[in-house]
Amino acid sequence: MSFGNTIKLLSGASIPQIGLGTWLSKPHEVENAVEIAIRNGYRHLDLAQIYRNQDEVGRALKKVIPSVVKREDLWITSKLWNSAHQPEYAAEELDLTLSQIGTDYLDLYLIHWPVAFQPGKGLFPKSEDGAILLDLETSLVTTWKALINLQKTGKVKHIGVSNFTVEHLEGIIKATGVKPEVNQVEAHPLLLQDNLVEYCKKEGIHLTAYSPLGNNLKNKPKLTEHPLIKEIAQKLGATEAQVLIAWGAKRGYSVIPKSVQEDRIKSNFKQVELSEEDYNRITEIGRKDYTRFNIPNHYNPSWNINLFGEPEEATAAHAVNVSGSPEAANKL
Ligand SMILES: NC(=O)c1ccc[n+]([C@@H]2O[C@H](COP(=O)([O-])OP(=O)(O)OC[C@H]3O[C@@H](n4cnc5c(N)ncnc54)[C@H](OP(=O)(O)O)[C@@H]3O)[C@@H](O)[C@H]2O)c1
Repeated sequence: MSFGNTIKLLSGASIPQIGLGTWLSKPHEVENAVEIAIRNGYRHLDLAQIYRNQDEVGRALKKVIPSVVKREDLWITSKLWNSAHQPEYAAEELDLTLSQIGTDYLDLYLIHWPVAFQPGKGLFPKSEDGAILLDLETSLVTTWKALINLQKTGKVKHIGVSNFTVEHLEGIIKATGVKPEVNQVEAHPLLLQDNLVEYCKKEGIHLTAYSPLGNNLKNKPKLTEHPLIKEIAQKLGATEAQVLIAWGAKRGYSVIPKSVQEDRIKSNFKQVELSEEDYNRITEIGRKDYTRFNIPNHYNPSWNINLFGEPEEATAAHAVNVSGSPEAANKL
Protein backbone atom coordinates (compact mmCIF):
# COMPACT_ATOMS: atom_id res chain seq x y z
CA MET A 1 0.00 0.00 0.00
CA SER A 2 1.24 3.51 -0.75
CA PHE A 3 1.40 5.98 2.12
CA GLY A 4 1.97 8.94 -0.21
CA ASN A 5 4.61 11.65 -0.46
CA THR A 6 6.08 13.44 2.53
CA ILE A 7 7.57 16.94 2.90
CA LYS A 8 10.51 17.94 5.11
CA LEU A 9 9.91 20.64 7.72
CA LEU A 10 12.47 23.04 9.21
CA SER A 11 13.25 20.55 12.00
CA GLY A 12 13.92 17.77 9.49
CA ALA A 13 10.68 15.95 10.40
CA SER A 14 8.54 14.70 7.52
CA ILE A 15 4.87 15.64 7.22
CA PRO A 16 2.72 13.43 4.96
CA GLN A 17 1.58 15.56 2.01
CA ILE A 18 -2.07 14.50 1.97
CA GLY A 19 -4.05 14.55 5.20
CA LEU A 20 -7.68 14.04 6.11
CA GLY A 21 -9.63 17.18 7.10
CA THR A 22 -12.29 16.75 9.78
CA TRP A 23 -14.10 20.12 9.99
CA LEU A 24 -17.90 19.79 9.61
CA SER A 25 -17.64 16.02 9.77
CA LYS A 26 -20.79 15.17 11.69
CA PRO A 27 -20.96 12.90 14.70
CA HIS A 28 -21.03 9.25 13.57
CA GLU A 29 -19.39 10.28 10.30
CA VAL A 30 -15.94 11.24 11.42
CA GLU A 31 -15.17 8.00 13.31
CA ASN A 32 -15.90 6.05 10.16
CA ALA A 33 -14.02 8.52 7.93
CA VAL A 34 -10.85 8.37 10.02
CA GLU A 35 -10.89 4.58 10.13
CA ILE A 36 -11.41 4.32 6.36
CA ALA A 37 -8.66 6.88 5.74
CA ILE A 38 -6.07 5.11 7.84
CA ARG A 39 -6.94 1.68 6.43
CA ASN A 40 -6.37 3.18 2.96
CA GLY A 41 -2.97 4.73 3.57
CA TYR A 42 -3.59 8.17 5.11
CA ARG A 43 -1.02 8.93 7.79
CA HIS A 44 -1.94 12.59 8.47
CA LEU A 45 -5.06 13.78 10.31
CA ASP A 46 -6.09 17.40 10.71
CA LEU A 47 -8.07 18.00 13.90
CA ALA A 48 -9.07 20.93 16.10
CA GLN A 49 -10.71 21.46 19.46
CA ILE A 50 -13.35 23.64 17.80
CA TYR A 51 -14.46 20.85 15.43
CA ARG A 52 -15.97 19.25 18.53
CA ASN A 53 -15.37 15.75 17.23
CA GLN A 54 -11.92 14.86 18.58
CA ASP A 55 -13.38 12.26 20.96
CA GLU A 56 -14.85 10.46 17.96
CA VAL A 57 -11.54 10.63 16.15
CA GLY A 58 -10.08 9.09 19.32
CA ARG A 59 -12.54 6.19 19.06
CA ALA A 60 -11.43 5.54 15.48
CA LEU A 61 -7.77 5.66 16.52
CA LYS A 62 -8.40 2.97 19.15
CA LYS A 63 -9.58 0.69 16.33
CA VAL A 64 -6.45 1.16 14.21
CA ILE A 65 -3.59 1.69 16.70
CA PRO A 66 -1.59 -0.54 16.87
CA SER A 67 -3.33 -3.13 14.65
CA VAL A 68 -3.15 -1.10 11.42
CA VAL A 69 -0.67 1.65 12.24
CA LYS A 70 1.81 2.44 14.98
CA ARG A 71 1.22 5.77 16.73
CA GLU A 72 4.68 6.95 15.66
CA ASP A 73 3.79 6.38 12.00
CA LEU A 74 0.83 8.79 12.21
CA TRP A 75 0.98 12.57 11.95
CA ILE A 76 -1.70 14.16 14.13
CA THR A 77 -2.25 17.91 13.98
CA SER A 78 -4.60 19.75 16.31
CA LYS A 79 -5.26 23.42 17.03
CA LEU A 80 -5.54 25.67 20.04
CA TRP A 81 -8.88 27.48 20.01
CA ASN A 82 -9.23 31.26 20.39
CA SER A 83 -10.73 31.05 23.88
CA ALA A 84 -7.54 29.46 25.25
CA HIS A 85 -4.82 31.84 23.99
CA GLN A 86 -3.87 32.79 27.55
CA PRO A 87 -0.94 30.53 28.63
CA GLU A 88 -2.65 28.72 31.56
CA TYR A 89 -5.71 28.03 29.41
CA ALA A 90 -3.54 26.86 26.51
CA ALA A 91 -1.90 24.20 28.68
CA GLU A 92 -5.29 23.06 29.92
CA GLU A 93 -6.79 22.87 26.43
CA LEU A 94 -3.86 20.82 25.14
CA ASP A 95 -4.44 18.27 27.91
CA LEU A 96 -8.13 18.14 27.01
CA THR A 97 -7.28 17.57 23.34
CA LEU A 98 -4.87 14.75 24.21
CA SER A 99 -7.45 13.07 26.43
CA GLN A 100 -10.12 13.35 23.71
CA ILE A 101 -7.85 11.84 21.07
CA GLY A 102 -6.47 9.26 23.49
CA THR A 103 -2.81 9.88 22.72
CA ASP A 104 -0.03 11.28 24.86
CA TYR A 105 1.40 13.65 22.26
CA LEU A 106 0.53 15.61 19.13
CA ASP A 107 2.82 15.80 16.14
CA LEU A 108 1.82 19.40 15.46
CA TYR A 109 -0.04 21.98 17.51
CA LEU A 110 -1.20 25.17 15.80
CA ILE A 111 -2.59 28.48 17.01
CA HIS A 112 -5.88 28.15 15.10
CA TRP A 113 -6.48 31.89 14.51
CA PRO A 114 -4.53 35.07 15.24
CA VAL A 115 -7.42 36.12 17.49
CA ALA A 116 -7.85 35.77 21.26
CA PHE A 117 -11.31 35.45 22.80
CA GLN A 118 -12.00 36.07 26.45
CA PRO A 119 -11.21 32.86 28.38
CA GLY A 120 -13.33 30.80 30.75
CA LYS A 121 -16.66 31.62 29.10
CA GLY A 122 -17.02 28.79 26.60
CA LEU A 123 -15.77 28.42 23.05
CA PHE A 124 -17.71 31.44 21.76
CA PRO A 125 -17.93 33.97 24.62
CA LYS A 126 -20.61 36.52 23.83
CA SER A 127 -21.79 39.81 25.30
CA GLU A 128 -25.49 40.32 26.06
CA ASP A 129 -26.02 41.78 22.61
CA GLY A 130 -24.55 38.63 21.04
CA ALA A 131 -21.15 40.02 19.98
CA ILE A 132 -18.06 37.82 20.36
CA LEU A 133 -15.97 38.95 23.34
CA LEU A 134 -12.44 39.50 22.07
CA ASP A 135 -9.41 39.57 24.36
CA LEU A 136 -7.36 42.44 22.95
CA GLU A 137 -4.74 42.23 25.72
CA THR A 138 -3.31 38.81 24.97
CA SER A 139 -0.94 39.22 22.05
CA LEU A 140 0.09 36.66 19.45
CA VAL A 141 3.59 36.76 20.96
CA THR A 142 2.21 35.73 24.39
CA THR A 143 0.35 32.79 22.87
CA TRP A 144 3.31 31.79 20.69
CA LYS A 145 5.52 31.75 23.81
CA ALA A 146 2.93 29.48 25.46
CA LEU A 147 3.25 27.04 22.54
CA ILE A 148 7.05 27.19 22.75
CA ASN A 149 6.74 26.15 26.40
CA LEU A 150 4.25 23.40 25.59
CA GLN A 151 6.69 21.97 23.06
CA LYS A 152 9.27 21.69 25.87
CA THR A 153 6.91 19.36 27.78
CA GLY A 154 7.10 16.81 24.93
CA LYS A 155 3.30 16.81 24.62
CA VAL A 156 3.67 18.42 21.18
CA LYS A 157 6.53 17.55 18.85
CA HIS A 158 6.18 20.54 16.52
CA ILE A 159 4.46 23.91 16.75
CA GLY A 160 2.96 26.21 14.18
CA VAL A 161 0.18 28.64 13.38
CA SER A 162 -2.87 28.95 11.17
CA ASN A 163 -4.47 31.85 9.33
CA PHE A 164 -1.37 34.00 9.96
CA THR A 165 -0.38 36.75 7.53
CA VAL A 166 3.22 37.78 6.81
CA GLU A 167 2.89 40.57 9.39
CA HIS A 168 1.69 38.16 12.10
CA LEU A 169 4.53 35.74 11.31
CA GLU A 170 7.15 38.47 11.34
CA GLY A 171 5.88 39.72 14.70
CA ILE A 172 6.15 36.41 16.55
CA ILE A 173 9.48 35.47 14.95
CA LYS A 174 11.03 38.86 15.76
CA ALA A 175 9.93 38.64 19.40
CA THR A 176 10.98 35.04 20.08
CA GLY A 177 13.48 33.99 17.42
CA VAL A 178 11.38 30.84 16.98
CA LYS A 179 9.84 30.15 13.58
CA PRO A 180 6.58 28.25 13.29
CA GLU A 181 7.28 25.09 11.29
CA VAL A 182 3.87 25.28 9.60
CA ASN A 183 1.31 27.94 8.72
CA GLN A 184 -2.03 26.36 7.79
CA VAL A 185 -4.03 28.69 5.55
CA GLU A 186 -6.94 28.73 3.13
CA ALA A 187 -5.37 27.86 -0.22
CA HIS A 188 -6.95 26.85 -3.54
CA PRO A 189 -6.81 28.20 -7.09
CA LEU A 190 -9.04 31.19 -6.17
CA LEU A 191 -6.69 32.28 -3.36
CA LEU A 192 -3.06 32.29 -4.48
CA GLN A 193 -1.51 34.45 -1.73
CA ASP A 194 1.76 34.83 -3.68
CA ASN A 195 3.31 37.15 -1.06
CA LEU A 196 2.65 34.75 1.78
CA VAL A 197 3.90 31.80 -0.28
CA GLU A 198 7.09 33.66 -1.15
CA TYR A 199 7.72 34.80 2.45
CA CYS A 200 7.15 31.31 3.86
CA LYS A 201 9.44 29.77 1.26
CA LYS A 202 12.18 32.24 2.14
CA GLU A 203 11.79 31.51 5.88
CA GLY A 204 11.41 27.74 5.49
CA ILE A 205 7.87 27.80 6.92
CA HIS A 206 5.78 25.03 5.38
CA LEU A 207 2.27 25.86 4.18
CA THR A 208 -0.64 23.48 4.64
CA ALA A 209 -3.60 24.21 2.36
CA TYR A 210 -7.02 24.12 3.97
CA SER A 211 -10.27 24.16 2.01
CA PRO A 212 -8.22 22.86 -0.96
CA LEU A 213 -11.42 22.06 -2.86
CA GLY A 214 -12.63 25.59 -2.22
CA ASN A 215 -15.19 24.61 0.43
CA ASN A 216 -17.96 26.95 -0.41
CA LEU A 217 -18.82 29.47 2.26
CA LYS A 218 -19.99 31.98 -0.36
CA ASN A 219 -22.59 31.38 -3.04
CA LYS A 220 -20.15 30.57 -5.81
CA PRO A 221 -20.09 27.50 -8.04
CA LYS A 222 -17.88 24.82 -6.49
CA LEU A 223 -14.31 24.66 -7.76
CA THR A 224 -14.89 20.98 -8.52
CA GLU A 225 -17.48 22.19 -11.06
CA HIS A 226 -15.23 24.76 -12.73
CA PRO A 227 -15.08 24.04 -16.50
CA LEU A 228 -11.26 24.14 -16.65
CA ILE A 229 -10.90 21.79 -13.68
CA LYS A 230 -13.44 19.44 -15.30
CA GLU A 231 -11.60 19.57 -18.63
CA ILE A 232 -8.22 18.76 -17.08
CA ALA A 233 -9.72 16.01 -14.91
CA GLN A 234 -11.28 14.40 -17.96
CA LYS A 235 -8.00 14.59 -19.88
CA LEU A 236 -6.06 12.96 -17.03
CA GLY A 237 -8.74 10.38 -16.23
CA ALA A 238 -8.77 11.84 -12.72
CA THR A 239 -11.43 13.32 -10.44
CA GLU A 240 -11.83 17.10 -10.20
CA ALA A 241 -10.78 16.90 -6.54
CA GLN A 242 -7.58 15.06 -7.51
CA VAL A 243 -6.75 17.88 -9.94
CA LEU A 244 -7.25 20.51 -7.23
CA ILE A 245 -5.18 18.53 -4.74
CA ALA A 246 -2.45 18.09 -7.37
CA TRP A 247 -2.43 21.84 -7.95
CA GLY A 248 -1.82 22.43 -4.21
CA ALA A 249 0.83 19.72 -4.11
CA LYS A 250 2.66 21.29 -7.07
CA ARG A 251 2.81 24.56 -5.13
CA GLY A 252 4.60 22.65 -2.35
CA TYR A 253 1.71 22.60 0.10
CA SER A 254 0.53 19.73 2.20
CA VAL A 255 -3.16 19.39 1.42
CA ILE A 256 -5.95 18.30 3.79
CA PRO A 257 -9.19 17.62 1.87
CA LYS A 258 -12.16 16.70 4.06
CA SER A 259 -14.57 13.96 3.10
CA VAL A 260 -16.80 11.55 4.96
CA GLN A 261 -17.58 9.47 1.86
CA GLU A 262 -15.57 6.30 1.36
CA ASP A 263 -15.03 6.60 -2.40
CA ARG A 264 -13.92 10.23 -2.07
CA ILE A 265 -11.66 9.54 0.92
CA LYS A 266 -9.93 6.88 -1.17
CA SER A 267 -9.68 8.79 -4.44
CA ASN A 268 -8.59 12.09 -2.80
CA PHE A 269 -5.53 10.24 -1.46
CA LYS A 270 -4.38 9.04 -4.89
CA GLN A 271 -1.98 11.70 -6.16
CA VAL A 272 -1.93 12.63 -9.85
CA GLU A 273 0.69 14.76 -11.63
CA LEU A 274 -0.16 18.04 -13.32
CA SER A 275 1.86 19.27 -16.28
CA GLU A 276 3.45 22.72 -15.96
CA GLU A 277 1.00 23.95 -18.58
CA ASP A 278 -2.09 22.70 -16.76
CA TYR A 279 -0.75 24.02 -13.46
CA ASN A 280 -0.31 27.47 -15.02
CA ARG A 281 -3.78 27.41 -16.58
CA ILE A 282 -5.34 26.59 -13.19
CA THR A 283 -3.31 29.30 -11.47
CA GLU A 284 -4.76 31.83 -13.92
CA ILE A 285 -8.26 31.17 -12.46
CA GLY A 286 -7.29 32.92 -9.24
CA ARG A 287 -5.54 35.82 -10.96
CA LYS A 288 -8.90 36.71 -12.56
CA ASP A 289 -11.30 35.69 -9.80
CA TYR A 290 -9.69 36.28 -6.37
CA THR A 291 -11.84 34.79 -3.60
CA ARG A 292 -11.22 34.26 0.10
CA PHE A 293 -14.05 32.22 1.58
CA ASN A 294 -13.10 32.14 5.25
CA ILE A 295 -13.47 35.65 6.74
CA PRO A 296 -14.49 35.59 10.44
CA ASN A 297 -15.64 39.21 10.34
CA HIS A 298 -18.49 37.82 8.21
CA TYR A 299 -19.36 34.92 10.50
CA ASN A 300 -22.56 35.00 12.50
CA PRO A 301 -21.87 36.16 15.19
CA SER A 302 -19.13 38.24 13.64
CA TRP A 303 -15.62 38.57 15.07
CA ASN A 304 -15.16 42.32 15.08
CA ILE A 305 -11.54 42.20 13.92
CA ASN A 306 -9.61 42.77 10.71
CA LEU A 307 -7.36 39.75 10.12
CA PHE A 308 -6.35 39.76 6.49
CA GLY A 309 -6.80 43.34 5.32
CA GLU A 310 -9.56 42.30 2.91
CA PRO A 311 -11.94 45.05 1.73
CA GLU A 312 -14.79 43.04 3.33
CA GLU A 313 -13.13 43.51 6.72
CA ALA A 314 -12.91 47.29 6.50
CA THR A 315 -15.82 47.81 8.90
CA ALA A 316 -14.14 45.80 11.69
CA ALA A 317 -13.35 47.88 14.77
CA HIS A 318 -10.20 46.05 15.87
CA ALA A 319 -6.82 44.94 14.56
CA VAL A 320 -4.73 41.97 15.66
CA ASN A 321 -2.57 42.50 18.74
CA VAL A 322 0.64 41.02 17.36
CA SER A 323 3.23 41.92 19.93
CA GLY A 324 1.71 43.17 23.12
CA SER A 325 0.38 46.64 22.70
CA PRO A 326 -3.36 46.47 23.37
CA GLU A 327 -3.80 50.10 22.32
CA ALA A 328 -2.68 49.19 18.81
CA ALA A 329 -5.43 46.61 18.60
CA ASN A 330 -8.18 48.81 19.91
CA LYS A 331 -8.84 50.77 16.79
CA LEU A 332 -7.55 50.49 13.27
N1 LIG B 1 -7.15 26.20 10.02
C1 LIG B 1 -8.36 26.59 9.72
O1 LIG B 1 -8.83 27.67 10.11
C2 LIG B 1 -9.21 25.71 8.86
C3 LIG B 1 -10.34 26.24 8.23
C4 LIG B 1 -11.07 25.40 7.40
C5 LIG B 1 -10.67 24.08 7.23
N2 LIG B 1 -9.59 23.58 7.88
C6 LIG B 1 -9.16 22.16 7.73
O2 LIG B 1 -9.05 21.86 6.35
C7 LIG B 1 -9.91 20.76 6.03
C8 LIG B 1 -10.41 20.87 4.60
O3 LIG B 1 -11.08 22.08 4.38
P1 LIG B 1 -12.67 22.17 4.21
O4 LIG B 1 -13.31 21.09 4.98
O5 LIG B 1 -13.02 23.57 4.51
O6 LIG B 1 -12.92 22.02 2.67
P2 LIG B 1 -12.51 21.09 1.45
O7 LIG B 1 -11.71 19.91 1.92
O8 LIG B 1 -11.94 21.97 0.43
O9 LIG B 1 -13.92 20.62 0.93
C9 LIG B 1 -14.74 19.77 1.66
C10 LIG B 1 -16.04 19.60 0.88
O10 LIG B 1 -15.77 18.96 -0.37
C11 LIG B 1 -16.51 17.74 -0.46
N3 LIG B 1 -15.63 16.76 -1.14
C12 LIG B 1 -14.64 16.02 -0.60
N4 LIG B 1 -14.06 15.24 -1.54
C13 LIG B 1 -14.71 15.49 -2.69
C14 LIG B 1 -14.58 14.97 -4.01
N5 LIG B 1 -13.67 14.03 -4.30
N6 LIG B 1 -15.41 15.46 -4.97
C15 LIG B 1 -16.34 16.42 -4.68
N7 LIG B 1 -16.50 16.94 -3.44
C16 LIG B 1 -15.70 16.48 -2.45
C17 LIG B 1 -16.85 17.35 0.96
O11 LIG B 1 -18.07 16.63 1.05
P3 LIG B 1 -18.13 15.10 1.60
O12 LIG B 1 -17.58 15.07 2.99
O13 LIG B 1 -19.59 14.80 1.53
O14 LIG B 1 -17.32 14.28 0.63
C18 LIG B 1 -17.02 18.73 1.61
O15 LIG B 1 -18.31 19.23 1.33
C19 LIG B 1 -11.01 20.88 7.11
O16 LIG B 1 -11.79 19.73 7.20
C20 LIG B 1 -10.17 21.18 8.31
O17 LIG B 1 -9.55 20.00 8.80
C21 LIG B 1 -8.83 24.39 8.68
